[in-house]
Amino acid sequence: MINRLPLIAGNWKMHKTGDEAVAAAKQLKPLVAGAKDVEVMIAPPFTALYQVSTEIKGSAIGLGAQNVHWEPHGAYTGEIAPNMLLAAGCMYVIIGHSERRQFFGDTDQTINRKIRAAISVGLAPIFCIGETEAERDSGKTFYVLDKQIRNGLEGFVLQDLQALVIAYEPVWAIGTGKTATKEQAQEVHAHVRRRLAEMVGQGFADQLRILYGGSVKPSNIKELMAMPDVDGALVGGASLDPVTFSQLVLYKK
Ligand code: PGA
Repeated sequence: MINRLPLIAGNWKMHKTGDEAVAAAKQLKPLVAGAKDVEVMIAPPFTALYQVSTEIKGSAIGLGAQNVHWEPHGAYTGEIAPNMLLAAGCMYVIIGHSERRQFFGDTDQTINRKIRAAISVGLAPIFCIGETEAERDSGKTFYVLDKQIRNGLEGFVLQDLQALVIAYEPVWAIGTGKTATKEQAQEVHAHVRRRLAEMVGQGFADQLRILYGGSVKPSNIKELMAMPDVDGALVGGASLDPVTFSQLVLYKK
C-alpha cells in the first residue's frame, strides 16, 4: 500500500501584512496542533515570511513562499532568490501558479528554471499546472497539462525531483466558486501520475504528491480527499481564515 502523507497548503496570495499574518498563524497553531497524518503549510506574502517563520517555529505548520526567481543573486530589481526564502524559514515554494502565468509572464521555460533553482537550495517546489475553461471545453485538457509537465520538468532526473509536489489547479476553478468534481479531479490526477511514471519512473510516480486546487472549502474537501490520487489541497480563499483553514486540515474529522 502506497502511503503518501496528505499536504494541505494555504496560499495567502496578496493578503495580510506581517502583523496580520503572524496573528493568523498564531490563531492557527492550536487549531491544527492535533492534526495527525497530515502536513500543513502556509504561504504568506514575502514581506511576512520571516515574521511568520518565527511564530510557527516548533509547531506542526510549515512555511512556503508563493514565487521565486531563478538566479541566486544579481541585478534583478524586485525579485527574491531561493536562498533568501530558505533563510526566511521556507521549506516550500509555489511555482507556476496560474495567476503568475496569466498576469506576470511566467512561462513553462521560466517555471522550469525556477523549479531547478528551488531544488538547488533544497526548497520543495509545488509545481502548479492547469487548463483554462476554453481548453477544457475544446477537449485539450490532457494536451495542455502534458505540455506544462513536459516543459516544466524538462532536463530533470529522478534525483532532482525527490521533493517535488504537483498541484493541479484548473484555472476555471480558482477563486470562482466552481470546483472540479471529485471525478474530474481524480481523472486528471491519475493521468498526471501516469505521465510522471512514464517520464521519471513508476516508483517515483507512486510516491509523488498531487494536490488539487480551485475553490476547495470545508464542504467539498472530504470527497476530494477520498479520491485515490488526490494527495492534498492547495487552498486560496478558504485558507485566509484560520478557523476555516483548520477545518480543511482536519478534513478527516
Ligand atoms: P482558491 O485558490 O482556493 O481561492 O480557488 C486556489 C489557488 O489559487 O491556489
